[in-house]
Amino acid sequence: MRALTLPALLVVLLAGCKRGAEPTAPEPPTQAEASGALLLFSADTRGYLAPCGCSENMRGGIARAAFQVLEARKGSLPVLYIDGGDSLFGQHTLTPAQVPQEERKALALAEAMKRMGLAARATGELDDVRGVGFRQGLGLPELAPGSLKLLRAGSRQVGVVSAQDAQQLAQASAQARKEGADFVVALFHGTVEQAQQAAATQGLEADLLLATHSASEFSAEENKLVRAAVPVVGLQSKGRSLLRVDLSYGSGKKRFTPVKGQGDTEREVSLLDQRMELLDKEINLPGIDPQLKKARQAKLEELVARKQKLLTEPAVAPTGANSFTLRFLPLESSLPEDPDVKAIVVKYDADVGKMNLAWAKEHGQDCPAPKKGEAAFVGSRACRECHEEAFPVWEKSKHSHGWETLAAVGKQLHLNCVGCHVTGYEQPGGVCRLDKVEGREHVGCESCHGPGSLHAEDPTPKNIVLNPGRELCVTCHNPENSPHFDYATYLPKILGPGHAARAAGPP
Ligand code: HEC
Ligand code: HEC
Ligand code: HEC
Ligand code: HEC
Repeated sequence: MRALTLPALLVVLLAGCKRGAEPTAPEPPTQAEASGALLLFSADTRGYLAPCGCSENMRGGIARAAFQVLEARKGSLPVLYIDGGDSLFGQHTLTPAQVPQEERKALALAEAMKRMGLAARATGELDDVRGVGFRQGLGLPELAPGSLKLLRAGSRQVGVVSAQDAQQLAQASAQARKEGADFVVALFHGTVEQAQQAAATQGLEADLLLATHSASEFSAEENKLVRAAVPVVGLQSKGRSLLRVDLSYGSGKKRFTPVKGQGDTEREVSLLDQRMELLDKEINLPGIDPQLKKARQAKLEELVARKQKLLTEPAVAPTGANSFTLRFLPLESSLPEDPDVKAIVVKYDADVGKMNLAWAKEHGQDCPAPKKGEAAFVGSRACRECHEEAFPVWEKSKHSHGWETLAAVGKQLHLNCVGCHVTGYEQPGGVCRLDKVEGREHVGCESCHGPGSLHAEDPTPKNIVLNPGRELCVTCHNPENSPHFDYATYLPKILGPGHAARAAGPP
């Protein structure tokens, strides 16, 4: 066997050449001659480095996004990665306790975006939560509202426009075109509906609008594509999907036209989606048999891989014309992560626990006293004395080790995790500082029955919540953390002999 393959040998030989020697191997085609380009977009990431892992198969994670971008760069086409903004923070206001963690997180996100070779980004109010100075200090390539940037993509130029309203959109897009942009993409700070209105402007020079701002935490659960004269796209929030745009260069300077992906492929993707959704629902059924779960999970991952292959195949260029296709790349949990960016996230996870604990010890405040006549949390231990019979049921439920779940993944000191995994978060008698959780770990009795100090002192059914109801469950079992929550399915799992056996048993 040969010790060195021919290309490897060439590299060795060339390395030995004197400077200035003519290379003997044919040059690979330069990007200037590329037949197209690939644009990848993130937006509305809302301070998410990774999903919480509260349910199986949660999408997202900056390390997964990075893998997609860096993998695309290995191909022969030029790749531009662009962010639409509202990415660095998840809330408009922070408590003093949250500041160290959230600043550290923004830093990690910025570092990750740099590794991904971010070419440009717009900004929204969720980037400015710690002030404009903090945001600018991160050193990301930003676009002020109403401004534009021309990016080279092989032989063509992509104009990236940032706009907050229809007027800015029209002006900046026209300007981008005037300055020589072949393809104009606008990062529109608004909802899909607002972007649609702005896109209806006569003579708009933009070729694509990305609506980068969702109205609230749970208002961008799906990817959206409106195929209007100027297509409008809204990405699933919290870093769960990327948008992929394949530009295909034809001859001449004509405007790029959107083409639908191949019909067969789209149908296959949508069929796979349906099957994946059914499997995911089954996998997340509380109390599912572990063997069955494993088998279903393996099947699901096989489908994810199949779909991913379809989604990342180069779009087939229709002959001759300047055109583009749009595809969403959901960042499914079984897709690979970029190791370098993963390391940034791991470092953040480790740092943040230490930072938060130090902050709590130095500045932490105990919970406020309850108002006169109102109850405080006293912890599950206090209920045991009189309700021993309810405990075996609770102890068998996952609620009884919610805190350990966090500890097992090293996140028991993360402020964006503890709230739903302890009892009485930020309530009188509950958990108000991370160095004082003792006795309030897990989702205890009072997480559902309400604070019990008055009841424990003077037990009557009048001073305790008898039946919490669905409304209370969904304060924790929300669409993000418990997307498959179904009251009728979940409720029987927390009841049983000793704990409302009547409700649990067969009618
Ligand atoms: C808004 C409330 C909420 C927040 C915040 C939250 N969780 Fe959860 N978590 C839940 C709920 C509800 C479940 C159970 C979901 C289900 O089974 O449907 C859960 C389940 C989990 C599980 C799975 C446990 C198992 O038995 O499989 C893990 C792991 C977890 N959470 C980790 C985290 C981490 C890490 C964070 C912070 C990044 C976090 N959670 C933040 C509500 C929350
Ligand atoms: C000192 C004993 C005592 C303690 C401590 C106590 N309870 Fe009770 N609890 C009772 C008694 C007695 C009743 C029944 C009152 C009645 O029916 O008149 C009751 C009733 C209840 C009920 C309503 C049941 C029903 O259908 O009427 C709930 C729910 C409840 N307790 C939850 C709790 C929780 C949660 C705790 C811990 C914070 C707790 N209790 C602590 C004695 C106690
Ligand atoms: C204070 C937040 C909170 C409230 C309120 C809450 N849960 Fe949960 N629930 C959780 C967390 C956290 C977990 C996951 C715990 C773990 O695995 O560590 C969970 C897990 C569960 C599970 C287990 C799911 C599985 O996959 O096995 C069921 C069932 C459940 N909850 C039902 C309910 C119901 C029904 C209600 C309302 C009556 C409710 N929960 C109220 C936080 C909460
Ligand atoms: C996840 C929410 C949840 C948790 C946690 C929880 N309960 Fe309940 N509890 C309920 C619901 C729901 C009912 C049934 C209400 C109904 O159907 O009327 C109930 C009923 C009860 C009752 C009335 C029981 C009966 O048989 O009539 C008592 C007493 C009680 N719970 C005590 C406790 C104690 C003590 C704990 C802690 C060990 C606890 N619960 C934990 C939700 C919860």
